[in-house]
Amino acid sequence: MISPQAIQSVKDAMRVEEVVGDFVALKRKGPRYLGLCPFHNEKTPSFNVSPNLGIYKCFGCGEAGDAIKFLEKHEHLSYVEAIRWLAKRYAIDLPEEEQTPEQQVEQSERESIAVVQQWALNWSVDQLWNTDEGKRIGLSYFHERGFSDATIKTFQLGYVPEQGNAFAYAAQANGFNPEVLEKAGWIKRRDDGSGTPWDFFAGRVTFPILGLSGQPIGFGARTLKSDKKLPKYFNSPESVLYNKSRSLYGIAHAKKSIVEQGLCYLVEGYTDVISLHQAGITNVVASSGTSLTEEQVRLIKRYAPVVTILYDGDAAGMKASLRGIDLVLKEGLNVKVVTFPEGEDPDSFAKSHSSSEVSEHLKNNAQDFLVFKASLLMAEVGDDPVKKAASIHEIVESIALVPDQVLRSLYIQQCGRMLGVNEQALISEMNKVLRKQHRKQLGGDQQTYEEQLAPEIASPQPEVEDLGTTPQERDLLRLLLNYGHERIMVPFVQDDGSSVEEETSVAELMFLMLALDDILFDHPLFREIYLDYRHSSNLGQPVEATRYVAHEREEWRSTAIDLLTDRHLLSPNWKDRHKIHVKRESEQLKDALEESVDILKERRVDRMIKERQELLKAADELGVMALLTEIVHLSEAKKKLAKKTGRVVVG
Ligand code: UTP
Ligand code: MN
Repeated sequence: MISPQAIQSVKDAMRVEEVVGDFVALKRKGPRYLGLCPFHNEKTPSFNVSPNLGIYKCFGCGEAGDAIKFLEKHEHLSYVEAIRWLAKRYAIDLPEEEQTPEQQVEQSERESIAVVQQWALNWSVDQLWNTDEGKRIGLSYFHERGFSDATIKTFQLGYVPEQGNAFAYAAQANGFNPEVLEKAGWIKRRDDGSGTPWDFFAGRVTFPILGLSGQPIGFGARTLKSDKKLPKYFNSPESVLYNKSRSLYGIAHAKKSIVEQGLCYLVEGYTDVISLHQAGITNVVASSGTSLTEEQVRLIKRYAPVVTILYDGDAAGMKASLRGIDLVLKEGLNVKVVTFPEGEDPDSFAKSHSSSEVSEHLKNNAQDFLVFKASLLMAEVGDDPVKKAASIHEIVESIALVPDQVLRSLYIQQCGRMLGVNEQALISEMNKVLRKQHRKQLGGDQQTYEEQLAPEIASPQPEVEDLGTTPQERDLLRLLLNYGHERIMVPFVQDDGSSVEEETSVAELMFLMLALDDILFDHPLFREIYLDYRHSSNLGQPVEATRYVAHEREEWRSTAIDLLTDRHLLSPNWKDRHKIHVKRESEQLKDALEESVDILKERRVDRMIKERQELLKAADELGVMALLTEIVHLSEAKKKLAKKTGRVVVG
């Protein structure tokens, strides 16, 4: 845990141009820096860094954020890791939040187990390469499996002698205490009262499981005996250092290539990872024995948006694991599937085919997971209508997990075609599932308002687009964030009709103008930010635009960054936009503000007229009169506004 104060001091110290500058060559351009975007391929620089705002933004691909976001994106660090990185960069002491005695014990236990695992790794590798038994049994086994020396070294594979206490003896001679060795999973103790230690991995070859930065956290150990009664693999027990559900075998070797390919292959075990790696497929990890967990999926998601699952050719096994994949869908990852010929797994396939055949196979056989699942289930339904209904329901349940609404519709369409089922039927089935999911989340049974708003598949896009006010609202909010503090002189009309010039801020004037005409933003996100700004100002807190740039809500951050870095500083409607841009004079700001508000007013009046015209259709005689009068007044107002905003009104 890092204290909020410590995080704040890191944030205060970090300079976005320095942090980005550690990775990207930047050139100074006026108040900004410019460079080639590290997030997409480009020849002419469109990657901007603004020290004033503390943000970067690429006008080519849209990537944007502050120094922390940069490290998260570019270096694939978690938030906490980014903070630690920055603390190091700026030599800031990160006082970890006061540790409880239990935390201290855990911390020192983690450190001592880590030391054991590293020592054990070196020891087992040494046994493999430098002892007679290791070479004769362990190394020759790996060679028989087709692993090259380079591969064996890359994955730091090792060997533990058969004798039974060689490791325990050597480790204790090196000063390790038996308790820690036991917690690390390397020794067990006889329960005959003597407590004599014995080697858990004796006579096995070892596969170290590495953490993200390459440090050993656990081991898998395979027996070399063909005795079917012996478990083929022993794995390290969980410890404060090794959490199975959070680790992925191979991640340390794969992460760079996963990022480069934008894709992660997921296989069953150690040997699949290693064989594929040797065949040149390096973006591959395994979930090692257990079924995939949420944490593992999130880990993958940090590196790539697509997971391709490599199934061996066993249909029963495939069906059993279908459910597990739902988890991946739920996290919003794009899931694909590649199958192998009957009786082959990725390991054996990679061994019996050339590297190019392997990569061809992966390329040519990747199919969408949901489509794969649908065809697998439908294949065994036959003519049984009950079975068919059950299968359709199962598929719909999976589709309902996909967070993206547009994608969901696409799946519905595609599966509808495949299953020969009416699309509308699938949609209503899906909406039932979505409602149920939603109720579960809310923990209640009654239909709630939020539930009605749950994004169902057939629901239309938010109304925002229809209203057509988004560009004006965007301009207003952009004015607010960019120039809110700017002072301007405004003529205020007094009771006696005379007017006096008074100084106010752009923000205050905007609040006033919008309040006078009772105008609120239609765009939900713009409205929230506007209200937050107004609320804080009303409380007398000066609102800095950077408040939104560093805001905890991602949508606020990206909206703010977008508005603050808008190149077209003022909208094309504005008369002399060049002059405004360069001088930013108060008079012109006021004009710009007024014009934006006027356009919003005009739109609103427009909408009111349309509403009344709609009502006319069903109104009685009296109603018609009232409505017509209103429409006349509104049309007058509209004409006046239009004259001001320079628009032509027809009719
Ligand atoms: P395999 O049974 O294919 O292991 O399981 P293998 O070492 O490749 O054995 P052979 O040579 O084909 O007979 C594939 C993966 O499943 C995991 C391992 O990660 C292994 O690489 N596994 C298998 C275990 O974790 N525990 C087991 O008991 C068996
Ligand atoms: Mn195998």
